Order: sequence, then C-alpha cells, then structure tokens
Amino acid sequence: MSAYEIIDHEYDVVILGAGGAGLRATLGMAAAGLKTACITKVFPTRSHTVAAQGGISASLGNMAEDNWRWHMFDTVKGADWLGDQDAIEYMCREAVPSVIELEHMGVPFSRNAEGKIYQRPFGGHMRNFGEAPVQRACAAADRTGHAILHTLYQQCLKHKAEFFIEYVALDLIMADDGSCEGLVAWNLDDGTIHVFRGHQTVIATGGYGRSYFSCTSAHTCTGDGNAMVARAGLPMQDHEFVQFHPTGIYGSGCLITEGARGEGGYLTNSEGERFMERYAPSAKDLASRDVVSRAMTIEILEGRGVGADKDHIFLHLEHLGAETLHERLPGITESAQIFAGVDCTTEPIPVLPTVHYNMGGIPTNLHTEAINPTADDPDATSPGLMAIGECASASVHGANRLGTNSLLDIVVFGRAASIRAKQLTTPGAPLPNYRKGCTDKALERFDRLRHADGDTPTAAIRLNMQNTMQSHAAVFRTDALMKEGCEKIDAIWDSMSDLSVKDRSLIWNSDLIESLELENLLICAKTSIYSAVARHESRGAHAHEDHPDRDDKEWMKHTLAWIDDAGKVTLDYRPVHTYTLSDDIDYIEPRARVY
Ligand code: FUM
Repeated sequence: MSAYEIIDHEYDVVILGAGGAGLRATLGMAAAGLKTACITKVFPTRSHTVAAQGGISASLGNMAEDNWRWHMFDTVKGADWLGDQDAIEYMCREAVPSVIELEHMGVPFSRNAEGKIYQRPFGGHMRNFGEAPVQRACAAADRTGHAILHTLYQQCLKHKAEFFIEYVALDLIMADDGSCEGLVAWNLDDGTIHVFRGHQTVIATGGYGRSYFSCTSAHTCTGDGNAMVARAGLPMQDHEFVQFHPTGIYGSGCLITEGARGEGGYLTNSEGERFMERYAPSAKDLASRDVVSRAMTIEILEGRGVGADKDHIFLHLEHLGAETLHERLPGITESAQIFAGVDCTTEPIPVLPTVHYNMGGIPTNLHTEAINPTADDPDATSPGLMAIGECASASVHGANRLGTNSLLDIVVFGRAASIRAKQLTTPGAPLPNYRKGCTDKALERFDRLRHADGDTPTAAIRLNMQNTMQSHAAVFRTDALMKEGCEKIDAIWDSMSDLSVKDRSLIWNSDLIESLELENLLICAKTSIYSAVARHESRGAHAHEDHPDRDDKEWMKHTLAWIDDAGKVTLDYRPVHTYTLSDDIDYIEPRARVY
C-alpha cells in the first residue's frame, strides 16, 4: 500500500500547463463541453507566456499588403527547411482567424491610426517572398504575451474549466498497450498525490531554457513535460536546435524584445559600426535571430565587443525618442533601467545573445497528437497523448523560429488540440478502470528524490549542467567542444547519485521541487547535446564550425532521441514533411538562406 494519500480524478481531458498553449486548449475543450482539468505548477497568469513581448504574427495586412503565403515562405526559410510544410501552412493560414478571435475575446492590442490592430516589423518578416520587410507582428505595446495570457485565463474561467494550481506533475500513466491514461501530480499545498485520468492528456509545459546558464526563460521552464514523455519511452525531436535571442540584457539575460529593432533600434560594435549591414545587407538588424546572434558573436570573438571586457554589444534606441519608447516599448524601457541601470531614451542598452527558445520537443502531427514512430510508420501516433506549444515539435519552427511565431504557435495549436480532442472524445464516456499500481513508477521517482541523502546540493549539480550547456552547446559548436560537453553531461548525470535533498516534507518543499525539475532538465540537456554532436551540418540555430554548410542530401531529417533510465541516449531520424496541406500552395523548395 502506498505511503501517500492518493486522490483519483476522472476527466474527459487533462491538460498539463497553463501558459498560452495550455489555456487556449483548456478554453476550447471546456467550451466544447468536455470535462476539462488544467494542472499547473504556477498560477496560470504567472506562466512564462506572460513574458512574451513583441507580438504575435498574422498577415492581417493592417499596415500594408500582406499574405499568409508570404508568412509561410518566411517561416519555411526561417526554419532553414527543417520545418514540416504541411504544419507550417496550417499555422500561417490559421494565424489570421486566430488573432481576430483573440481580439474578439478581449486582448487589448495596440491600435494603428485607423483603429485596427497595430503591427510592427520583426526579424525575417518580409513581403512578396522575401523582398522587403513587412509589418506583421500584432502587438499589445511590448506586453503582448501578458495581454494574451490574462485574456485566455478569463475565458477559461468563463467556460468553467477546472484548475489545479500549484500541482507538480510527476509522471505520465501509460497503459501496457502504450496509450496514455493520464498523469500523477503532487499538490504542493497539502502534500497529497493526485491521479488525473482522461481520454486525452495534453502536455503544454513550455521549454527547457533553464538547462543553460543565461536564458530569457523563467525559472519554471524546466522541460517537465518533455522529460515525462521521454521517461514514458517516447522520443524527443530536434532537441539540438536551441535559439539564442540576440538581445538579452548583458549580465541578467532579461529579454529586450526584437520589436525594439522592429521600431528602428540597431546594434553597434566597439567601433560604433552598424555591423549587421555587413552580415545581412538587405534585412540588416531584422535578419533572422540565428543570423543576428552569430554576427554579434563573431564581432565579440574578433575583438569588436563593447565594455571593459569587450564581451557584449550595444542596442541603440535613443534616436527613437522618449515618446515612442514610452508608447510602444514601455516594458523594455523599464527592464533596461532595472536590469542594466540604463536610461534607454539617452544611452544604449548592453546586450548579448541569450538562450530563448527550444525549437524541438515532443514530436506531433499538425493535429497535436504525439508521435511515436514505428519501423513502418514514421508518423504513427501515441493514443491518448497530445503536446502543444514550446514543449512540442509540430514541426513549424524547424531549425530556427521566427520571432512572434511562438505566440502564434501556442494559440493556433492550442486551438487545434481542442478541435482534435473534441473529435476523439465523447463527453462523459467511461474511462478504463483505475489500475492498481498505476502510480508506482511516478512514486518510486518521487521517493528516490525525496530521500536522496548524498552530499551534493541540487543547486551545485544544476549550475554544473547550466555551465556545461552554455560552454559546449552555444551559438557556435565544434566536434571537439560538443564531445567534451557530452562527457561532462554524462558525469553530471552520474553525480545525481550523490544528490542531497535535506527537506523531507511534503508541503511546499522547494528543495524537492527543484530536484524533480533538475532531473527533467538533465534529460533535456542530454538529449540536446547528444543530438547536436551527431548532426554533421550547419542549419538554423545549429552552427557547426567543422561542418559549416547545410547538407540537405544527408541531413534534411528530424532527429529523434530516446533516453533510458540509465541516461543512455539512442538516436534515429524521421523524414521532414516535404509536402503542403492543400493545392493552394506548392512545396517551397530548399534554396540558399540569405537576408
Ligand atoms: O523579441 C521578442 O519580443 C520575442 C518574441 C518571440 O520570441 O517570439
């Protein structure tokens, strides 16, 4: 008999995570009449979506002509031809109705002179298949994620979705036939263990930015869902593709939106040169993020960084004027003051490329069903399991995500999940009987960490992992560097056997929460660096100095990485979808990626 008090819950659908993706799915499923539970480790409006700044992309054409086909072209090119074009077509087409729907739900978008949703330029957003910049990022000042998240939460409450807040998920419940039956979670408030069972379990836990030392991600971005799925024996897809945002504040990593460059901001080196003109003559400071981050890194490595240690770059906004900054970019004006001590109306902001987004994740189809490939079918689905948002890989971002396609992804695929769940689930249909022992695996893990009585604190192992990822899987990568990184990560994995968890309590035990999160992060870090060292080409965010060119013949394929309980990583590959969804648009053939 379990030492824990276990409380069983039955729902039609169970959603893990209450960021934008989780809330959009929760809202859609509740509105469709499904009995819906949303489980989240933080209060919904504190989820990391709240930090998204610059906008959500949709070819509304409010500022000048735009077209979803141009958006699709930009996304395919931004992804460096690793994205699945059927999923990209779906996302770019659905962008327009999805954003209008958000407006109708009450998102307080900024307005242009005609009273329509204001749209600003962003990196890689171009008109007419790459010709010249277009204003496509629909913005609520520089607090777009905040505005969307609060609106979605209000809509969920309106539709009577049920929330389980400050519950930490431990593991999935998988049946012998490989289908997912729900999940096990720990209620931080009273120490009880809960089993949430449903016909569909939707993972919406965000990214794993915290596997690196310097990132724009919240401390809660610990890859919990990815790790739970990996522990259930399913693969992670394209984990080697980690996006560095060009403008994290030097020292703190806090995000300065790309919208700042969209509004006319620019980067300079120690010689005062606007160096992006050399690297991307057409798009300049608004080239794709991987391109700008690499250019900044080269400037620093070649001795043209700014500051006493010549180790960062300046972002200039002074010329925009205080009025524009306060109207269009009030959040980052405040962040620059707080985190860099800089008044950006009069002086430049010190910035550095900083880990921002995970392009890879739990592989899914465009209906958000998780994929568990078989020898016969690379697109075979895993019954009962869905994934959406940053933890998923649909794959619409391929090797590099375009700015503002992240808010779009969570809204479009959150909605897609609710449409699919409604097709698959009859409200109130009986669930399989509660299986005795279904919590065993999750509780064994919980107990092992709760009673870890070694000598190494969680924070020490975490710091070691973060430093290793920062040094060995960064903007530029080499074979030697990544191989050494793999060895170090293996040793860090092994050091978990000496983990020390001092607090044994079941109520608000932050020592234990952080240890559970660390184990999740390590799964993500390991699959990430092992996938990276195996990919012998440069594509999008994966810039391999020993293999500087993209190699479509050998490498236009998705990496799949499995990890076992001992930490052994096994790799395989599945084909990129080289077809579109409809006859409206042809497959976009690979070509050179210049900005
Ligand atoms: O720069 C930004 O505002 C970030 C947007 C995004 O990652 O999509």
